[in-house]
Amino acid sequence: MKSRGRKVFNVVNDAGGLTWFIGCGITCANSKRTSIMQPPIAPENNTPHVSRRQFISTGALATGGILLAGVSCSTTDHAQPAPVAGVGTPTPFVTPPLPYDYKALEPYIDAQTMQIHHDRHHEGYTRNLNAALDQEPQLKGRTIEQLMAGTAALPASARMSIRNHGGGYYNHNLFWEIMAPAAGSMPGEPLASALTKAYGGLDKFKAQFTDAGMKRFGSGWAWLIVKADRSLAITSTPNQDNPLMNGIADATGTPILGLDVWEHAYYLKYQNRRAEYIAAWWQVVNWANVSARYAAAIR
Ligand SMILES: [Fe+2]
Repeated sequence: MKSRGRKVFNVVNDAGGLTWFIGCGITCANSKRTSIMQPPIAPENNTPHVSRRQFISTGALATGGILLAGVSCSTTDHAQPAPVAGVGTPTPFVTPPLPYDYKALEPYIDAQTMQIHHDRHHEGYTRNLNAALDQEPQLKGRTIEQLMAGTAALPASARMSIRNHGGGYYNHNLFWEIMAPAAGSMPGEPLASALTKAYGGLDKFKAQFTDAGMKRFGSGWAWLIVKADRSLAITSTPNQDNPLMNGIADATGTPILGLDVWEHAYYLKYQNRRAEYIAAWWQVVNWANVSARYAAAIR
């Protein structure tokens, strides 16, 4: 299990920066924000700009920013291995800014849901994760992937708090990035072929993944992961657990696609109609990002 955890960590860090890269493409394509390298505006209230400034201030953006140079503005499936925003950031952890506007995913996901979800829920997980680490200073300096992979072995005094809030932090970091304004993208290679081999094609994969999301009782997530043997698997976790959590998750591996089925992700627009939410969510899956994560995970 130890080696598996290390593999996950390495994969994620090797990928580091790519998602920012893709995020830039999305931003350019939609002309909402010209570049994440621009000086952040704004301020005192709890907006994505604040998070952006905070994120830059940690220095974590620097690596991804360097990788942004020369990137074309495209949301197509020109997947290249690269990094994951906010993942691997040393403590204190900072909520990464959304890589698009609150309203960018409409009509599939509404702006108010995005604002509350990112600025309150995600920010809350980040704040509580940092508070938990303040109580366990010996854990500071670990990356979020290390904390997740080793959650089961954490001191009892911090285990549940880091499991819940660290999981919430990591899961939402990924969630924002595997979505993008609807661009009709499709999985790129080699992910497309891997999905066909494992599930018989994209539509059949979507049906099985949707089923995992629908069957998750209460709050939780559905995942597409790359296992240690590099095979794909669909799994789900309760609450804010994730497939990095050795000894906790039913199936472990590197998450490359995650679907938040907590009601806070959809209730304002879809109320109890989770099936409608999931059907709409497929329209905003950022396949370029997912494909890049897959390419990085099988390297
Ligand atoms: Fe959520």
